[in-house]
Amino acid sequence: MKQYFPLVIATGSQFCNRKKERDLLLMRIKNNTHTWISAPRRFGKSSLACQVFEDGKKLKSLNLHHERIDLNVCINEKEVEGQIVKACEKLIGAIAPKTGVLNAIKGIFSRFQPELVTGTDGVVKIRLKSLSDNYEDVRENIIEVLISLDEIATKRKAKAVVLFDEFQQLSILEEGVSIEAAIRHSMELSKSLTYLFSGSNRHILAAMFNQEDRPFFRQLIKMDLGRINDADYTAFINKAAKKRWKKALSKDTLKRIVILTERHPYYVNYLCNLLWQESSPPSIKKVESQWNDIIEQMTSWYQSSTQKLTKNQQAFLRALSVQPTNQPQSHEFGERSGIKVASISRTIDSLAHEDLIYKDEEGFIRVIDPGLKHYFSLYKR
Ligand SMILES: Nc1ncnc2c1ncn2[C@@H]1O[C@H](COP(=O)(O)OP(=O)(O)OP(=O)(O)O)[C@@H](O)[C@H]1O
Ligand SMILES: [Mg+2]
Repeated sequence: MKQYFPLVIATGSQFCNRKKERDLLLMRIKNNTHTWISAPRRFGKSSLACQVFEDGKKLKSLNLHHERIDLNVCINEKEVEGQIVKACEKLIGAIAPKTGVLNAIKGIFSRFQPELVTGTDGVVKIRLKSLSDNYEDVRENIIEVLISLDEIATKRKAKAVVLFDEFQQLSILEEGVSIEAAIRHSMELSKSLTYLFSGSNRHILAAMFNQEDRPFFRQLIKMDLGRINDADYTAFINKAAKKRWKKALSKDTLKRIVILTERHPYYVNYLCNLLWQESSPPSIKKVESQWNDIIEQMTSWYQSSTQKLTKNQQAFLRALSVQPTNQPQSHEFGERSGIKVASISRTIDSLAHEDLIYKDEEGFIRVIDPGLKHYFSLYKR
């Protein structure tokens, strides 16, 4: 069955709108403006980048090639190097000519031996065999491979993009800062290779990119990803309903989906993914019962992820889940939450830092995760 609402990265017909962000990011790629894509967890950062790659591919004159480097899987510096080298091999293979490729890149590398290997799929690929496997060489190897890729792309009039996803992973490695410095050094020298950064832990990334003593201090332009607007999301969901059942959903059903999920892409996809497995379009009742099932399924996760919060933080989230506030310092909110006015400001800062709350356009403080909000308002009494 066709996946209308994937739980993994969404692109193409699965991707809803974000036209402004897509155009802006594509422009930055063209201009070699290195960007940090920032948003709360599961808001669509990786999907946006992948969609922009698809958009860019359609512009033939751009000659765009891209790779995503997922650092989440790396538990040491050598593995980071391995991921970067792998991405560069693929990009060089895509950019350099199919025949005489070794000749075309001859003389560029001093720390790697380029060679052709036949993969298990029978396809011939470029491999960059490291001439030194020493730990001390990781930094220099990363610099050489990234700079060489840029040189090859420039020579071939191609545009290359690397997306460093889950970049915060570097911060837990012993020598992570020296890898950051290597990537930053290569980035500074790049002409045809654009660097994008993303990750699921915003406050660690903010520390990496905004602290004066870190290599990436003031090196990137930040792009904040908000929620997809109501009209666009509603139209998108309805289009998927027409494709699935040849029938539009009722206005009220659509509204219910949008209200319950609060247009949080992960929850929209989770809910709709289950609803779209049914043989007929959902009623409001079905939407609600499915939503309740999701909350129930996720309850143990909500429990474990909020266990580490202080009593004040939990009390604040509970009060906010029942009703958002634009006057957190008021007597009324103090009464409602049971938190002393003197502690409110600190509680807000700490919850914002953890990406658990946000301020909407009207100045109301709200819980970011609609499922967690539901859990707090229903179960956590
Ligand atoms: N524009 C979009 N249209 C439709 N679905 C989307 C869109 N963006 C994201 N999604 C869906 O939302 C969920 C989260 O997307 P994605 O993995 O891209 O988010 P993320 O911000 O990179 O998450 P993480 O914080 O875990 O890295 C996925 O199920 C994805 O399919
Ligand atoms: Mg992601």
